[in-house]
Amino acid sequence: MSAVVVVGAQWGDEGKGKVVDLYAPYAELVVRYAGGANAGHTLVVGGEKLILHLIPSGILHEQTNCVVGQGTVIDPAVFLKETEALNVRGLDTRGRLVVSQRAHVVLPHHKLIDELREKRSGGAIGTTKRGIGPCYEDKVARRGVRMGDLLNPERLQSKLAANLECWRPVAEDLGGTLPTAEEITAQYTDLGEALRAYIGDAAAIVRASIQANEKILLEGAQGTMLDIDNGTYPFVTSSNAVAGGACAGAGIGPTHIKSAIGIAKAYTTRVGGGPFPTELEDETGQQLRDAGAEYGSTTGRPRRCGWLDLVALRHAVAVNGLNELAITKLDVLNVLGELKVCVAYELDGERLEYPPYERIEDVTPIYETLDGWDEELAKYRSRADLPAAAQRYLDRIEEEVGCRVGVVSVGPDREDTADLVDPFG
Ligand code: IMP
Repeated sequence: MSAVVVVGAQWGDEGKGKVVDLYAPYAELVVRYAGGANAGHTLVVGGEKLILHLIPSGILHEQTNCVVGQGTVIDPAVFLKETEALNVRGLDTRGRLVVSQRAHVVLPHHKLIDELREKRSGGAIGTTKRGIGPCYEDKVARRGVRMGDLLNPERLQSKLAANLECWRPVAEDLGGTLPTAEEITAQYTDLGEALRAYIGDAAAIVRASIQANEKILLEGAQGTMLDIDNGTYPFVTSSNAVAGGACAGAGIGPTHIKSAIGIAKAYTTRVGGGPFPTELEDETGQQLRDAGAEYGSTTGRPRRCGWLDLVALRHAVAVNGLNELAITKLDVLNVLGELKVCVAYELDGERLEYPPYERIEDVTPIYETLDGWDEELAKYRSRADLPAAAQRYLDRIEEEVGCRVGVVSVGPDREDTADLVDPFG
């Protein structure tokens, strides 16, 4: 058992990027298993800011190989741009990065339809408009185009022709015009050629890595509450973001997974529409947004902010089978005097320990108030040294959700981390 899954335990943006970056040096292979360019992770490379949407941040560690698995959906132009940005900064990606030939391709009309639907619905879901939903729709409807198809123009054009026929009435109804199969073929064949060195048999690489007993880090995107099956449906993304998604999305069996580590912020954020029981639409929410720089790295949208929702986290512990939690941005809470955590919901007079399958927008959070701490935390390297109130905050998380807290992030930099240990150890 040599694989560790890192999964978002809330509504995405939990700081998975930082944790994967901390764990990657311990891994021989990092595999991204779900989602697409809706995700975003800001890195600092050679003193310069760089946002990666598709390529795992493990690419920064030269001894680590990276795979983008079959469970992802790939916008080839975004992928190419990211490889170029890394190469320009002196990071050689060739030979260390493979994108699965089975991963589905985000096509121009996927982005168009995503955008037109958002417009028509008045932004009800608030998608990232990266074409994620329509691309996964094509995948399950068994009419999708896969990365391997980009290397075979004839096959690509015939698949595109059939695919476009299915979308035509939808596009017309939404007032959009579809490109032709020939136009997309020309553009995407060029992209395929530019990416030829990267498109490969990712599943075989994962298999060989398992057989060689290498350490594999499985990197999730988005978060548990955005998972298509386990999240706040229909206000979710279109993939299995949970740890279980790592098996299908990377091509790995559950028996190879050693542990699942859930990443959770010390408070809660959400971008886009949908229920958010602990949301703070007041000054406290704004304080969290300012202190935590809570603006989307993909869309730049201000994130909705609120108290830590332990009901959602308890659910994440259950559905991901978490062995451990990594708590990020604990330092952001420095700005607040008194802290609240939601320990249960109330719905129609009933106390709920787990999220209901619908009507989450109708629940009333039941809060517990905890003392804050008025102290910078970035200097601490061990939980045992943190101010007593911060330790108590972490203790209450563990007690309420039944999962131990391992790593604690106390600042944005790599070094601002307490209790970092080898996740494979
Ligand atoms: P989509 O994934 O673009 O279809 O968007 C569906 C929902 O998931 C929207 O509410 C998005 O804001 C949200 N979402 C998608 N990707 C992310 C992410 O990486 N972080 C946070 N929210 C996300």
